[in-house]
Amino acid sequence: MDLAANLRDELVDSLATAGVLGDGRWASAFREVPRHLFVPEFFVATPAGWAPVTSDHPDHLALAYRNQVCVTQLNGSDAAWGRALAEGAVEGVPTSSSSMPTIMAIMLEALDADGTVLEIGTGTGYNAALLAHVLGDEAVTSIDVDQGVHARAVARLAEAGRRPFCVVGDGEQGYPPRAPYSRILGTCAVSRIPPAWLGQVVDGGLIVTTFTRALGAGLVRLEVRDGVAAGRVLPEDGRFMPLRAHRQVWADDALHRALHAEGTGRATPLGARTAVDPASGFEFFAGLALPEVAVGLDPVRLVHPDGSWARHRGAVVDEGGPRELWREAEAAHREWRALGRPRRHRFTFTATADEQHFALDGTDLTWPL
Ligand SMILES: C[S@@+](CC[C@H](N)C(=O)[O-])C[C@H]1O[C@@H](n2cnc3c(N)ncnc32)[C@H](O)[C@@H]1O
Repeated sequence: MDLAANLRDELVDSLATAGVLGDGRWASAFREVPRHLFVPEFFVATPAGWAPVTSDHPDHLALAYRNQVCVTQLNGSDAAWGRALAEGAVEGVPTSSSSMPTIMAIMLEALDADGTVLEIGTGTGYNAALLAHVLGDEAVTSIDVDQGVHARAVARLAEAGRRPFCVVGDGEQGYPPRAPYSRILGTCAVSRIPPAWLGQVVDGGLIVTTFTRALGAGLVRLEVRDGVAAGRVLPEDGRFMPLRAHRQVWADDALHRALHAEGTGRATPLGARTAVDPASGFEFFAGLALPEVAVGLDPVRLVHPDGSWARHRGAVVDEGGPRELWREAEAAHREWRALGRPRRHRFTFTATADEQHFALDGTDLTWPL
């Protein structure tokens, strides 16, 4: 057995121990499909920025088989890669990657894949290879908006001996020529379920995707019947890079301004992590109570497109703009406690062509998207 195969076994064992991968066909796929072929070059996060790792790096294999995202593109172009090779670590926003194996495993298991699958976001091609390994090349369609990303994925899939149908296009429109699909898998996050997807899934088929909501996000598994997708928020959380058109570009400036803006500091009983840490039971509910809010860390900041902002430092909060976001978060925390502290999997999600909303099990509470 070679080193790569041993590293794959270790990765599968760790995913199984974490309870995100069963013993079946997806475990075999993760054991057999060589992830390193799909990430011959990628960035790793370092204190100095994104540093390049190439296939001749002594730790390339070990890094490729960590249970980590491998970022393969920054800022929507390949320019940063050239700069990083020439100058070392660079700044940038990830726009393509091989996702973290944990979230891939969770989504593949949730997909209950059968028949045909449309994957939104080909990226490196690794997930398409896992799908094709289990379902066969013919069953898999994968779409990416970026021509260069697509071309590299196709080449690497061929190197791995796989030929799923890959195409360049806007995944928000699905891919009508090969519809209907038994499953749609979103490997980039969406701000709402694209209406085109609803019409491209067979009756009884499934959509598995994540949301871009900075606060609360949400990984959902929805069954489509008569053009309506309905289902649950999964207990596990998923944070993916957004579909390009669904990026919250306004937030960067607002978060920067909130670093230094003057506010009237006051003590708060609500801990910063309670409100914004995905591991906190409240964070999902906070996202429902504060729609469209974006989050910054160190120090924790909340900002809204209407100009409202809050900054939490120590046990003191500063706020400004038309609304008091942190006071709203405190009120939401009281409401959440009164409701019995429901965690994310107690929420359902429904999407029609005209309307989309979350709801809480056993109540008539709903939150429109
Ligand atoms: C996290 S990566 C996908 C990971 C991939 N499934 C893999 O296994 O490597 C997200 C991808 O979504 C693509 N993307 C962003 N917006 C898109 C859109 N509107 N339509 C299709 N793909 C899009 C990006 O170019 C990027 O490659």
